[in-house]
Amino acid sequence: MTRQILVTSALPYANGAIHLGHLVEYIQTDIWVRFQKMRGHACWYVCADDTHGTPIMLRADKEGISPEELIARVHQEHTRDFAGFHVAFDNYHSTHSEETRFFANDIYGKLKAAGLIEVRAIEQFYDPVKGMFLPDRYIKGECPKCGAADQYGDSCEACGAAYAPTDLKNPVSAVSGAVPVRKSSDHYFFKLSDPRCQEFLRRATREVCKTQPEAVNKLQEWLGEEGENKLTDWDISRDAPYFGFEIPDAPGKYFYVWLDAPIGYFGSLKHLAARRPEIDVAAFTRPGGGTEMYHFVGKDILYFHALFWPAELAHAGYRIPTAVFAHGFLTVDGQKMSKSRGTFITAESYLKQGLNPEWLRYYYAAKLNASMEDIDLNLDDFIARVNSDLVGKYVNIASRCAGFIHKRFGGKLAAVSGDLLADVQTAGEAIAAHYESREYGKALREVMALADRANQFVNDHAPWELAKKEGADAELHRVCSEALNLFRLLTIYLKPVLPKLAADVEAFLKVAPLAWADAATLLPGGHVIGEYKHLTTRVERKQIDALVEANRESLAPAAAPQPHSQQRHAEHQQHVAGATAASPSPQPSPRGGEGVSGGAFAPTIGIDDFSKVDLRVARIALAEHVEGAEKLIKLTLDLGTETRTVFAGIKSAYDPATLTGRLTVMVANLAPRKMKFGLSEGMVLAASGEGPGIFLLSPDSGAQPGMKVK
Ligand code: 2FM
Ligand code: ZN
Repeated sequence: MTRQILVTSALPYANGAIHLGHLVEYIQTDIWVRFQKMRGHACWYVCADDTHGTPIMLRADKEGISPEELIARVHQEHTRDFAGFHVAFDNYHSTHSEETRFFANDIYGKLKAAGLIEVRAIEQFYDPVKGMFLPDRYIKGECPKCGAADQYGDSCEACGAAYAPTDLKNPVSAVSGAVPVRKSSDHYFFKLSDPRCQEFLRRATREVCKTQPEAVNKLQEWLGEEGENKLTDWDISRDAPYFGFEIPDAPGKYFYVWLDAPIGYFGSLKHLAARRPEIDVAAFTRPGGGTEMYHFVGKDILYFHALFWPAELAHAGYRIPTAVFAHGFLTVDGQKMSKSRGTFITAESYLKQGLNPEWLRYYYAAKLNASMEDIDLNLDDFIARVNSDLVGKYVNIASRCAGFIHKRFGGKLAAVSGDLLADVQTAGEAIAAHYESREYGKALREVMALADRANQFVNDHAPWELAKKEGADAELHRVCSEALNLFRLLTIYLKPVLPKLAADVEAFLKVAPLAWADAATLLPGGHVIGEYKHLTTRVERKQIDALVEANRESLAPAAAPQPHSQQRHAEHQQHVAGATAASPSPQPSPRGGEGVSGGAFAPTIGIDDFSKVDLRVARIALAEHVEGAEKLIKLTLDLGTETRTVFAGIKSAYDPATLTGRLTVMVANLAPRKMKFGLSEGMVLAASGEGPGIFLLSPDSGAQPGMKVK
């Protein structure tokens, strides 16, 4: 049965460059869409720039251009970058469009008619010089907890404390430098706390997240127990001056991001439908249309897509998503992307350095699964994996056999059959199931296991030997034809990930664009292929070094805060009625990008040096004050089979009472040290930076005392 599928990726803000963190999501989605299309389904992949909001307005202002000019320029840059990575949207639109306005007004009107919109006065910081209300990100001051200077209005980068902007000491507006004043104004709220929404969400959203148990747990946490009302109403308006859509019946009030960004998915679909008459917009936007709708999003906006968005849709008479697929964040070499380390890599710079976008697509796919875990781009592993799999395994099959067909047999293939071919054909359905369930890593492992078998087949028959042997022509022809058929089958299975390489293979094999069903057949005897040309190159270490160098920025702090987060920023925080406090944040707002510096890195060590350190999970059985010690806490650590006493210099950050019972990590083979207060038999691990604050490490839940940490 042909499925009718609408697929979206989160709409990127129109004031920042696409970087490798964003690309995890777009590549993940694009692979899924390409797979669905290869399976013969009607699948539409739509996206758009998220163009509205204060940051875009201020950025345009700073550049001396209109917001419209800014978003037009960024639209062109984003389109270029996505195309560069073969992310093939069926439509890439803009939320600043009549189509999005149409749906925003319609949904708002219906929610209002249903009694789910409420107006309340709230008090916020206001910049008296600029004449505007300030989002949290545009207020800076001293951390109310640790006193660190120059902190944003939502949380402290030095000590990690979260607070309301009104808690900041000596706040200033980051826009004008003026001291902000508190001012009240009317805001429009979507009543997510209404019993109808609560009841609906309890019924419906588990279904939307059912492929991801971690997401279902999160939902459970957000919704609370039956009878509990944990959801807060959602502020959907912002005051002028604002770049966005004015709320129809509320002059001077504008729809805030969550009442136009996801609606942009429909806006983009409607825009596409104007040139694709086969798309029935109502069948995708109204209930009962027999279509499917999937949203790929970062885990930080799961809350909006799994709660707010379905509630908004359902109560306006629209359809709800079939599923929301949340993914984790990208780390590079195990750490947050960092401008100072050169790992905050833009899509543009990657392409400009001449790196092959399909290397990254392959690497991400090899790492991706259906969970919300973060994925790590390990640069050494990237080089090794791409070179070994793509060059050493996959392309190697063709490069070792194609020349003989061309030179010795006029490009004509022999008819072939056999067990290996049959096995590779049969494997197609299992691989398809992995793609369908977004287990791309599993899919690629299967494909590479088949590539290993194909290479073994070539090794066993050594066509280069057969070519020298008298009377072995038929055998040479058969072996090379079989190898090229295996190569074609593997190309089908890799095509969702490597569309450009697959197109080059199609040209070389002189076949029509490959679909999944083509794996059921083989190239017939007599089929003429083209001349083999180099299909891909190896990644060189120096290319990666140059890429990192090109992205390295000096440590000078950015002049103005940019929403450069890997995912999102405090702009997503909500103001709850009657208070200036940021509402309970659904989850910590990960401010991607710069980390807090821990100083220069120590010289490189080998694995042998590292493995000398015996790290163990330890349970703090007892934590005690030490009479007369200013900095120390005495810890009794349970290692499963024995206990140790450790004096830890963490008193400035922890009250012993809160430590007892928790798990941490210790160095278990550190020579005991005699201290003034007793013998210390090891060391617990804690993080600290240049600023104040000490952060004891904890393992994930499930770890047991005594477990080795490696
Ligand atoms: O979080 C973000 O990146 C916003 N631009 C919204 C993206 S999702 C949406 F479009 F629903
Ligand atoms: Zn602080």
